[in-house]
Amino acid sequence: MKKKSLNIEFVEYESTQGLDSELVDLINKTDENLNNAYAPYSNFKVSAVCKMANGEIVKGTNQENGAYPSGLCAERVAIFAAKSQFPNQNVEKIVITTEQTTEYPVSPCGACRQVLIEYEVTQKQPIELIMKSGSSKIWHFKSIADILPFAFDGEFLKEEE
Ligand code: THU
Repeated sequence: MKKKSLNIEFVEYESTQGLDSELVDLINKTDENLNNAYAPYSNFKVSAVCKMANGEIVKGTNQENGAYPSGLCAERVAIFAAKSQFPNQNVEKIVITTEQTTEYPVSPCGACRQVLIEYEVTQKQPIELIMKSGSSKIWHFKSIADILPFAFDGEFLKEEE
């Protein structure tokens, strides 16, 4: 029997001060995009912006529906749009912000984590994740794997030779 543990490292910033200007610009773009959220049922606006390897910026917001389960989170809207428009480009970063201020930055739901890690695994390059909720602190993770340890990987589906 072996006891094991897992340590997850990430960086917390009090505010955008001290962040590199590219990240500040991406965070501002993500915040501005909150106005495009369609969240009449929850009133919880979420915005996600993907920065692609070719420099393209692809934005998404949560899109709700009167038939609740038909709606989709901002992260999936953004990354599905990004990979539809630029299927061969790696996703370098995803920034997620919410309108409401919460004690800790709102982090992606389980389904979104699963979708994000699919692209991280297949592109063989980590996707950086930056989160801020209203005027909360900012959290910066180096990889989606850090927020989804022990992830299910499509590779498991491949039969061994
Ligand atoms: N939501 C997101 O867009 N991303 C998340 O990471 C968590 C939740 C949306 C879904 C729904 O429109 C609203 O926030 C409330 O759950």
